[in-house]
Amino acid sequence: MRNQGWGCVATKLCGTAVAAVLTAALLSNSSMKAQQVSAGEPGLMPLPSHFEAGTGSFTLKPGMHVAYADFHNPRLEAGVVRMMARLQFESGVPLPHVPSQVAGDMASAGIVIDVAGAGGAVQSLDEDESYSLTVTPQLITLRAATVVGAFHGMETLLQLVQLKENAATIPVVSVEDTPRFQWRGLMIDVSRHFEPVNQIERTLDGMAMVKLNVFHWHLSDDQGFRAESKIYPKLTGVGSNEQFYTQEQMREVVAYARARGIRVVPEFDIPGHSVSWMVGYPQLGSSKGPFHLPDVAGIHDEALDPTREGTYVFLNRFIGEMTKIFPDAYFHVGGDEVNGEVWTSNPRIARFMKRKGFEKPSQLQTYFSQRVVRIVEKHGKKPVGWDEVLVPGLPKNVMVQSWRGVESLAAGARQGYRGILSAPYYLDGMKSNETHYLADPIPADTTLTPEQQKLILGGEVCMWAEQLNERTIDSRIWPRTAVMAERFWSPQSDRDVASMYRRLSGISIELEQVGLKHITGPAMMRRSISGEVNPASLTTLAGVLEPVSFGERYHEQHTDGHTPLDRLVDTVVADPPSRFEIAQDVDAVLNKTADSTEAEARLTRRFMEWQEIAPTLAAQMQANPRMSDAAIRAQQLGDLGSLGLNALSQLNPNNPAIHGTVRGETRIASIDDAAKPAALVRFTFLDSLRKLVTASSASGAIH
Ligand code: ACM
Repeated sequence: MRNQGWGCVATKLCGTAVAAVLTAALLSNSSMKAQQVSAGEPGLMPLPSHFEAGTGSFTLKPGMHVAYADFHNPRLEAGVVRMMARLQFESGVPLPHVPSQVAGDMASAGIVIDVAGAGGAVQSLDEDESYSLTVTPQLITLRAATVVGAFHGMETLLQLVQLKENAATIPVVSVEDTPRFQWRGLMIDVSRHFEPVNQIERTLDGMAMVKLNVFHWHLSDDQGFRAESKIYPKLTGVGSNEQFYTQEQMREVVAYARARGIRVVPEFDIPGHSVSWMVGYPQLGSSKGPFHLPDVAGIHDEALDPTREGTYVFLNRFIGEMTKIFPDAYFHVGGDEVNGEVWTSNPRIARFMKRKGFEKPSQLQTYFSQRVVRIVEKHGKKPVGWDEVLVPGLPKNVMVQSWRGVESLAAGARQGYRGILSAPYYLDGMKSNETHYLADPIPADTTLTPEQQKLILGGEVCMWAEQLNERTIDSRIWPRTAVMAERFWSPQSDRDVASMYRRLSGISIELEQVGLKHITGPAMMRRSISGEVNPASLTTLAGVLEPVSFGERYHEQHTDGHTPLDRLVDTVVADPPSRFEIAQDVDAVLNKTADSTEAEARLTRRFMEWQEIAPTLAAQMQANPRMSDAAIRAQQLGDLGSLGLNALSQLNPNNPAIHGTVRGETRIASIDDAAKPAALVRFTFLDSLRKLVTASSASGAIH
C-alpha cells in the first residue's frame, strides 16, 4: 500500500521551536515523495515488464468479489481467499473471503480472474508465469495462462492499493508482465541455526509477494542435520541437537510453497560440510572419528569418504527417500569448500587416489561428483552444485550455482553448463541494497553469446545462518531481498536506484503485513535491551548504524548455536533508509538542487537530534551491560551531529535555524574516529558527512 510512512515521524525534536520551523519543509517533502511514487512510477516491486498508467481509479467497495471467467481449481481459489483477506486489511473495506462465483454477472463482481489452466502438476522451470492486469474505473481483470501467473498478478494488484481522497482505490493501469529469469531463488541455511516451520512459511509469503519462485533449503551442514530420514534415523537422532523437520513438516512446507507458486529445492551438502552425517554414521567419514557436531562454523577438514562403496549405497538410499518428499526436478548436492586434507592424510584414501591416477583431491571430488550425479539422475532429478564442482569431467547436466564470483557463472556457460548467480547476493555481506540491485546475472556488457546467455537461468539470494537466529533472520532477509527479486524479474534496463529505494520503503510495510518480523523484531529487541517501551533515542542511533560484514564479525566473534544474539548489532539492519536519505540530502545541499532548502532542513534536524540525544543516551548505554560496548557509538553520534551542523552553518551562514546550535566536536578527524571498529556496528553516513564537511571547509575553517 502506498501513501503510508512518509509523514513527519514524531521525535523528541518535533515539539521544539527549532523543529517547528523545519516541520513545514519536511511535510512538503513527504507529500512530494508520495506523489512521485503514484504518478511517475508504479509503487511496485518488482517492476513489471510493461506498465501503462491511465487516468482515474477503481474504488474498492464493500462486498466486492471475484468472478472466475472459466477455469478455477482449489489452489487458485485458496489464493483468491488469501488475496481478499489482504485486500480487506490493506483497504479497510469489508470484502467477502469465500471463494466467489463462476462467470455470471462479471461486471458486478469487481474483479474478474481469467486463467487458462492449472499449470504443471509439479511446477517446472518452464511454467508460464506471465499475467496481465487491466484496471478500469469499472472493473479489474486479471488474465494468466497458469495459476502461478495469476498469483503474481494478485500480488501486483495488492501492491497497487492506495488510500487517498478518503477512498481505497486502485489506479487505472494496464500491466503486461513476464519474468526476465526463470530461476528466482532464496536460499536459507537452517543448519547453523535452525528455523522453525512458521519462520519458513512466513518467508515463503514474503517470497511470493516479490515473485520469487525457488526456495532453496540448505538442510544439512557440519553443525546440524535438519531433515528426518526414516531409513537413517541417527542422522537427526544424534546429528541435529533435536532440531529438525519431520517428513510431515517438510511435506507441509512443500505444499505451502506450491500454494504460492514456489518450488522447493532441497540441498544436502556433500562431500564437505558433512560432519553432522558422521555423528550417527561414522563409517561415512574419511577419518576415524568419533565425530561430534562442531559448534563453530568455518571450513572443517572432514568430508565423506569417496572411496568406499558403502558411501554410495547410503547416499543412494537416502537420496531416494528424500526425492519422494521433494517433487521438484532439481536436487542440490552442495560440493563447496572441500580442502581435501582428510583425503590426502588417510593412507588408504591416498592409495585409492594413486590407483586411479588422481594427483589432486579435486580429482577425487570429481570422481565423487560423477557418482553422486548418477545417483541423483537415477532418482529422476537434475543435480545442482556450488561452483567448486565446475572442474574438467563434470557431467554436462549439472547446474552450477556460482558463489565465488560472477566469472565462474560465465565460465560455466561457455562450457555449456546451466547456472544461477549467487556471488553478489550474499545477505551476510551486509552490502547496500544498491550494490545488490545493480549486480546482474547477465550484465549489459556480457561477452556471452545469446546461446550461452540462455544457459544462465537466474539467481539466488543466499542467507547463511552463522550469525543470526530465529529472532533476527527476518530483518537480515527483508526487505533487502525484494531488490534482488526485482533484478531477477524485471527488465535489465530497470536500474534507477532512487526509484528502487522509494519503492522499497513501501514494500517493506507490505512485507510486514504478511507476518514478517523485519520491523517488529529489531524494535522488540531494542525495547528488551533498554527496558523502555519507546526507546526513541536508541532507535535514532540504531537507524544510522548497520552490522559489520560477516567476515568482520567472524574476526571478532565466533558465533555458535549458543551465542546470545541480542546485542545492538542484532537490532540494526544492513543499509537502513538513512544511508541513502542522507546521501541524497547532502548531494541536494551541495548541488543546490530545487530540493536543497528542504534537504538542508532535514539534515539540520537530524544533526540537532543527534547532538541532543547523545549525552543521555551514551550514559544510559554505558550503564547497561547489554549495551555498554556500544556506548561509544552514541558519543560519536553526538560529535558527528555537531560536525554536520557546523558544516551546514559554514555553507549557509544565514540560516537562522542552524546558527548558534553547534555545541561539541567539530574536527573532521571525528569521522575517522567513528569509522574505527566498535561493537560490531558501523555508521551508515560517514562518506556523505565527509563530503559535506570537505565542501564546507572550502568556505570556512574546519580542521
Ligand atoms: C558457500 O558459501 N560455501 C556456498
